[in-house]
Amino acid sequence: MAQTVDDLGSDCSLGSDRSLGSDRSLVLDRPDDWHVHFRDGDVLADVVTATARQFGRALVMPNLKPPVTSADQALAYRARILSSLPSDSTFEPWMTLYLTDRTSAEMVRDAKRSGCVLAFKLYPAGATTNSDSGVTDLRNCRAALAEMERQGVVLCLHGEVTGPHDDIFDREALFISRVLQPLRQDFPALRLVFEHITTEEAASYVAQADGPICATITPQHLLFNRNRMFQGGLRPHFYCLPVLKREHHRLALIKAATGGSPRFFLGTDTAPHPRHLKEADCGCAGCFSALTALELYAQVFDQQGALHRLEAFASHHGADFYGLPRARSKVLLRRRPQRVPQACRFGSEEVVPLLAGETIEWTLEGPVAAQD
Ligand code: NCD
Ligand code: ZN
Repeated sequence: MAQTVDDLGSDCSLGSDRSLGSDRSLVLDRPDDWHVHFRDGDVLADVVTATARQFGRALVMPNLKPPVTSADQALAYRARILSSLPSDSTFEPWMTLYLTDRTSAEMVRDAKRSGCVLAFKLYPAGATTNSDSGVTDLRNCRAALAEMERQGVVLCLHGEVTGPHDDIFDREALFISRVLQPLRQDFPALRLVFEHITTEEAASYVAQADGPICATITPQHLLFNRNRMFQGGLRPHFYCLPVLKREHHRLALIKAATGGSPRFFLGTDTAPHPRHLKEADCGCAGCFSALTALELYAQVFDQQGALHRLEAFASHHGADFYGLPRARSKVLLRRRPQRVPQACRFGSEEVVPLLAGETIEWTLEGPVAAQD
C-alpha cells in the first residue's frame, strides 16, 4: 500500500495511511522498469546508472548490434551490465532475447534454463531501431512460440505493422487485427506483453481480452500528444516509436494506467541516442526518460488524483505478471519542482534527456529504509 508523509525530516511515518490530499510526499515499494534500452560499450555505465538510481529491476531489451539472440549472449550482456554498476548496487537486470525467423524451440528451452531471461521480444522487421533482423513472418516462429507457450516464457511485442503503405499513425491499431488476434488464436496460453502502447484501440483490447496479456505504458505517451513533436518547429527529442498519437489516445492511456487494472504496468522504453543522431537529417527514434521517469509518472497520476494507484502500476503489476517477488525496499517521491538537465554524459558523447531544461513537478528523494 502506498504511504505518504508530510515532512521527510521529522515525520517520516511509514505506517501512516493518511489521505493523500495535501501531502507532498509519497513512499512506494521500489518500482521496476519493464522496458529499457541499455545499449552497450562505453555508454553502458552512464545509461545503467540512471535507471538503477530509479528502479530496483529492469527488463533489458535485446536490440543491440548484433542483436542478443541466444541465452549465452544474454548472460554475457547481463554480466557487462552488472560490472558497470557500483559493487554495492542491488539493481537486478532481467534479460530478453530477440526473436528472429531462426529462433528454435531449443533456444527457448536454453533461455528458460539460463535463469536470467524472462522474455523474447518480437520486432517486426523494419519496425524500429535495429530491427533489421526482426521477424519477417510469425509463421516462421511457430516452433519457438509453441515452446514459449509450454514453458511460460513471455513474448514482448513491438506492436506495429510495417507495410510501406501503412500510415505510421495506424500501425499499432492494424497490428491488433493483422498480427495479435491471429497469434492469440493459435497460442491462447502464450503470455504476452503489448509494449509501449499508444492508442485507445490497444488499451481497450488489453483491458478486455481473455487470457494472459498485459501492456506497458511509457511516460511520454501519458504526457504528450503528437503536437509536442511539432511545437514551434520540429522537436526530435519527442520522436519515438511507436510515434506519439492524438489527444484522445493519450487520454485512453491515462485511464488505463491510472485505473488500477493489473493488466497495465510501468515500462519507460527509455531509449538513448547520442545528440547528433537525434538532431540529424534522418534522426533516430527514442526518448531518454530514465533520469526522471518516476517523477513523470507521478506527475500524471497526481494530475488525475490517482497517486494512491501509482505504486500498483509502478511496483506490483509487472512483478506479479513476470512471477517475481514484489520489492522489499522503498523509495520516497516528493512533490517538489526540479529542473531536468540540458544533457547527460553518454560515453564520449552526450544524450539529451526527455524534457531537458524544463521544470517538472516531482523529485525522487531516494531510497527509504524499510520498517521491519
Ligand atoms: C527504441 C530504440 O531506440 O532502441 N526506440 C524507440 O523509439 N522506442 C526501439 C523501440 O523500442 O522501438
Ligand atoms: Zn523499446
